[in-house]
Amino acid sequence: MADLSVEIAGLRLRNPVMLASGILGETGSSLVRVAEAGAGAVVTKSIGAEPREGYPNPTVVELEAGIINAVGLANPGIAAYVDELKVAAQAEVPVIGSVFGKSEGEMSEIASLMEEAGASAIELNLSCPHARNVGAELGKDPEIVGSVVSAVKKSVHIPVFAKITPNVTDIVDAALAVANSRGDGIVAINTVKAMAICPETGRPVLSNRIGGLSGPAIKPIGVRCVYELYESVDVPIIGVGGILTGKDALEYLMAGAKAVQIGSAAYYRGIEVFGRVVEEIGEFLDEYGYESVGDVVGIAHDEN
Ligand SMILES: Cc1cc2nc3c(=O)[nH]c(=O)nc-3n(C[C@H](O)[C@H](O)[C@H](O)COP(=O)(O)O)c2cc1C
Repeated sequence: MADLSVEIAGLRLRNPVMLASGILGETGSSLVRVAEAGAGAVVTKSIGAEPREGYPNPTVVELEAGIINAVGLANPGIAAYVDELKVAAQAEVPVIGSVFGKSEGEMSEIASLMEEAGASAIELNLSCPHARNVGAELGKDPEIVGSVVSAVKKSVHIPVFAKITPNVTDIVDAALAVANSRGDGIVAINTVKAMAICPETGRPVLSNRIGGLSGPAIKPIGVRCVYELYESVDVPIIGVGGILTGKDALEYLMAGAKAVQIGSAAYYRGIEVFGRVVEEIGEFLDEYGYESVGDVVGIAHDEN
């Protein structure tokens, strides 16, 4: 059986399949359940300084090829969430704390509290497409990306990953800023700006009107982003977007991702999707004679 373990910025994972932020990560016990279902690491929901209700319903609309959501970063705030993190720390896999905020100071403080509560790494949400003054509103400016990464790096001793947005002309600009600020990893991609209109009412479906598209429809966009990032920066990449099966994950790995995250597929295939995708990757590697998952990382860039 091929070796599925991977190492990213010093974090050792038993396999390359993580839970993506915002999905099933609202409580410590659900993070533990995802770990038990087979994930190699779990990412929390994005947490801010204060409790936040998010947008009124409807916040999610399911389409043929994906899901559009504008949840609005609903979360209980860091003071309440540290208790959940303490529970999550009992999971037998690394717990990655996802952070959003309005400023580098705010994000540094949240990151530091997460480290204290047992997080093994930080993921900076610089890419939420539908929240004002946070997320992609910061992440679309590479200079801000760089200064946030630098500031958070100074406030914690654990690896800092930056989750960057595909909703820009060139995703490489933000990645270069992460690399220049000594970020430990890049997570790509967050959802793609999208909307749905109900023909019967003539109104946008989501209360926020515009949201982020996830699921199968965005896989080719995510794979392209990871491929471009791998050619441009020497920082570990974690691929996310539309992964439902082991073969989807392999596309990302072959494009250059060292690990992948799964979000929407938990709706399509249930919590078992984590273990299943791990098995499917293993079966593929065995069938094609690869000894380890590392053997396929970036092979789509090979000349022959
Ligand atoms: C309902 C929902 C909530 C999400 N919340 C967050 C979040 O809080 N922070 C974040 O960084 N990404 C969030 N995301 C984005 C996912 O982590 C992921 O980047 C995106 O959905 C693409 O992956 P997928 O196609 O596997 O879902 C959310 C996605 C969905 C569908």
